[in-house]
Amino acid sequence: MDTGRFAYPIVSAIFIFLIFSQAEAYDTLDPTGNITIKWDILSWTADGYVATVTMNNYQMYRHIMSPGWTLGWTWAKKEVIWSMVGAQATDQGDCSKFKGNIPHCCKRTPTVVDLLPGVPYNQQIANCCKGGVVSSWGQDPSAAVSSFQLSVGLSSTSNKTVRLPKNFTLHGPGPGYTCSAAKIVPNSVFLSSDGRRKTQALMTWNVTCTYSQMLASKNPTCCVSFSSFYNSTIVPCPSCACGCKNTNSCVTSDSNILDVVGINTPTANNAPLLQCTQHMCPIRVHWHVKTNYMEYWRVKITITNFNYLSNYSQWTLVAQHPNLNNVTQVFSFVYQPLIPYRSINDTGMFYGIKFFNDVLMEDGPDGNVQSELILQKDANTFTFKEGWAFPRTVLFNGDECIMPPPDTYPFLPNSAHARTIVLSTLAAFVHFILLAFW
Ligand SMILES: *[C@@H]1O[C@H](CO)[C@@H](O)[C@H](O)[C@H]1NC(C)=O
Ligand SMILES: *[C@@H]1O[C@H](CO)[C@@H](O)[C@H](O)[C@H]1NC(C)=O
Ligand SMILES: *[C@@H]1O[C@H](CO)[C@@H](O)[C@H](O)[C@H]1NC(C)=O
Ligand SMILES: *[C@@H]1O[C@H](CO)[C@@H](O)[C@H](O)[C@H]1NC(C)=O
Ligand SMILES: *[C@@H]1O[C@H](CO)[C@@H](O)[C@H](O)[C@H]1NC(C)=O
Ligand SMILES: *[C@@H]1O[C@H](CO)[C@@H](O)[C@H](O)[C@H]1NC(C)=O
Ligand SMILES: *[C@@H]1O[C@H](CO)[C@@H](O)[C@H](O)[C@H]1NC(C)=O
Ligand SMILES: *[C@@H]1O[C@H](CO)[C@@H](O)[C@H](O)[C@H]1NC(C)=O
Repeated sequence: MDTGRFAYPIVSAIFIFLIFSQAEAYDTLDPTGNITIKWDILSWTADGYVATVTMNNYQMYRHIMSPGWTLGWTWAKKEVIWSMVGAQATDQGDCSKFKGNIPHCCKRTPTVVDLLPGVPYNQQIANCCKGGVVSSWGQDPSAAVSSFQLSVGLSSTSNKTVRLPKNFTLHGPGPGYTCSAAKIVPNSVFLSSDGRRKTQALMTWNVTCTYSQMLASKNPTCCVSFSSFYNSTIVPCPSCACGCKNTNSCVTSDSNILDVVGINTPTANNAPLLQCTQHMCPIRVHWHVKTNYMEYWRVKITITNFNYLSNYSQWTLVAQHPNLNNVTQVFSFVYQPLIPYRSINDTGMFYGIKFFNDVLMEDGPDGNVQSELILQKDANTFTFKEGWAFPRTVLFNGDECIMPPPDTYPFLPNSAHARTIVLSTLAAFVHFILLAFW
């Protein structure tokens, strides 16, 4: 009768193992997620062209947070950037061979960043000047775009001879993105704001950039802990989930270094300053199975920030659980099912309410956000047994969180676990392999 008892933990361990052992950049919950960079040539000039570059973030739950994106490429020939609107090259480079008009950037491999909000209107275009912050598609498609305009010189001046830039690189803001080669696509068509006139780009090319957590950081950045009303055990994040405690690289929460003025100022390399914990993750997601009603059950989710140097703005949380098809109410967070690419409605994203809890503040008394959700039980599948009430996968800002080993999930009292030792040992073994692959 109990043959299925350990099926879930083992299946889930193998599932997690498969996710992490994939060498290829591929997000199973958002398989078509990408950032597309489109260049539209608006006019040919005496020695080149004027183009609008538009970056669309088609990732459902991965945004680009402050300090924003950095875009780079290599010119195919000796092109220069005469001028830019809505963004700037970080380094002008050597323009010494120019007299009179000096280009904005002469580097063969320019590096471009967005302008900060509040620049004068004559330096702005639509969708620029947000400090490089780009929303995720799932959270706000209208803010999932960033644009700038540039005037290119020393280039060919027709669609037959112009050479496409090469080797695109995108940081958002850290590493993790890999960009394709530019590809000529059908010319973009623009509609005037009153919808009464259509215009066309003279030439358009696209570059697609995809994210891989493996490339972004060698350590995970988030872990999950569990508790329940039916068992007093609190299952903590796995030890060393994101690294091991080393007092040289972390601070204890009572340390007086935290009283130093300016200690919360992020450093140039954006390295975290973490509170010492046994898991050493900047982010912990706690899932508490809170209440059992006749036809419903209730979960409390708490996200805690252990990084003193980061306010996570527009954070997102993704959870996968078979009962998410029957979410009845979500308090304090926005919930949105992620069904477009999945045949089953078991995955959704949570994010904060604007101006209320859309910023997960730096480590400290305000460094957490919380929500409760009520789910309607499905008579056929609902159970508190075997850790069923806990999520299968959790992602914070699009990065996979490390879960406790399946055999440690809180048990229902009296749920005998004799003759399952072999199976739980197997689960632990799979988990061990999983850690070894990091
Ligand atoms: C990029 O994302 C869009 C929207 O999801 C999708 O239509 C397109 O196929 C993706 N492109 C690639 C190359 O994956
Ligand atoms: C090029 O990018 C634009 C904007 O992201 C997108 O609408 C268009 O479908 C892309 N074209 C191709 C052929 O991928
Ligand atoms: C180049 O422009 C000409 C018209 O000026 C047009 O007929 C041709 O299709 C364009 N070629 C490409 C590759 O866009
Ligand atoms: C582009 O990058 C590749 C690999 O990083 C390199 O071999 C190649 O020379 C680069 N091309 C240009 C034009 O810089
Ligand atoms: C986080 O936000 C608070 C309030 O806006 C600010 O005082 C603090 O300096 C910020 N911390 C960081 C690390 O940016
Ligand atoms: C998916 O689940 C949500 C809530 O859990 C529900 O509102 C939505 O209607 C479901 N969508 C489909 C297509 O089943
Ligand atoms: C749960 O949701 C599914 C589809 O989303 C629906 O078919 C089913 O009736 C729901 N169950 C309950 C108990 O509401
Ligand atoms: C609570 O769950 C733990 C596993 O996490 C288990 O070892 C313990 O026996 C359970 N407690 C009770 C009272 O069943």
